[in-house]
Amino acid sequence: MNEIIAAVDSRLERFVASRALPPHLLDAIRYALLGGGKRLRPVLAWRSCEAVCGSGERAIAAGAAVELVHSFSLVHDDLPAMDDDDLRRGRPTLHIRSGEAMAILAGDAMLSLAFELIVESVEDALLANSLVRELSQATAGMIAGQVYDTMGGLPHSLSPLERLHMIHRNKTGALIRAACRMGAMCGAADSSAMDAVTRYADSVGLMFQIVDDLLDSEGTLEQTGKRTRKDAAAGKLTFPGVLGLAASREEVERLRGEACLAASILGPRGKPLADLATLMASRKA
Ligand code: IPE
Ligand code: IPE
Ligand code: MG
Ligand code: MG
Ligand code: MG
Repeated sequence: MNEIIAAVDSRLERFVASRALPPHLLDAIRYALLGGGKRLRPVLAWRSCEAVCGSGERAIAAGAAVELVHSFSLVHDDLPAMDDDDLRRGRPTLHIRSGEAMAILAGDAMLSLAFELIVESVEDALLANSLVRELSQATAGMIAGQVYDTMGGLPHSLSPLERLHMIHRNKTGALIRAACRMGAMCGAADSSAMDAVTRYADSVGLMFQIVDDLLDSEGTLEQTGKRTRKDAAAGKLTFPGVLGLAASREEVERLRGEACLAASILGPRGKPLADLATLMASRKA
């Protein structure tokens, strides 16, 4: 995994440095983008590509593009008008470090850089088109999820658990799904392989946010690099809040099982994806 992360970091580093950006904007982007994230989405893209074609390298640009959108989403998620957080990845959030205006603009810039990275890096125009479509739809899903999470607005006819699924599958699941599917597209997946990757992605996408909710209620700042016990105080709809801790952990385990089953359809090449699901289920950061 460290090799994948190093390859993605160097791609991101070179790409942002090659753009004509004001130096203080570049500095803010570098702070948010290259500041020690787990890089799970690029790793998922790599592993999904590898699961369908045997090599993951072809998915570096796609994974890096998802990471740019992810970093934008985190910078905006932390803003005072959103979750109002002052720490991320063990350091001050971007708006604390560089001011709110710069955080908003650096987020905007990362969003557009993501699409520029795809069209500049992917020579096959049909593939680039599919990647852009996938990532733009997922970004819209993430934003819809953030709207539901922050302002509500879901139909009252939905139960709290149904609402929770809508929020989590969008705000977090959408980009994770896109990372996996874009990786599989880079590996020229056939439709049955794409179905298996999509099933895997839907399970780990929801699981990932349940683990994030659990870490907020049981983890520490030292482990996670962000303030904990914030969701309940902010009145967020979360899995531990609705189901309780034990049932939330069971749900993580159930989704991990579902993800591993989907990965097994891909044969031995799907094994790293299954291992990654297990790692994501037991993460402490
Ligand atoms: C945090 O994502 C926000 C969620 C979608 C839960 P990550 O836990 O992947 O954050 P980094 O990129 O590793 O910091
Ligand atoms: C954020 O969910 C999901 C995003 C789209 C950024 P959270 O608000 O729970 O993420 P953290 O806990 O701040 O990382
Ligand atoms: Mg949030
Ligand atoms: Mg947040
Ligand atoms: Mg959280």
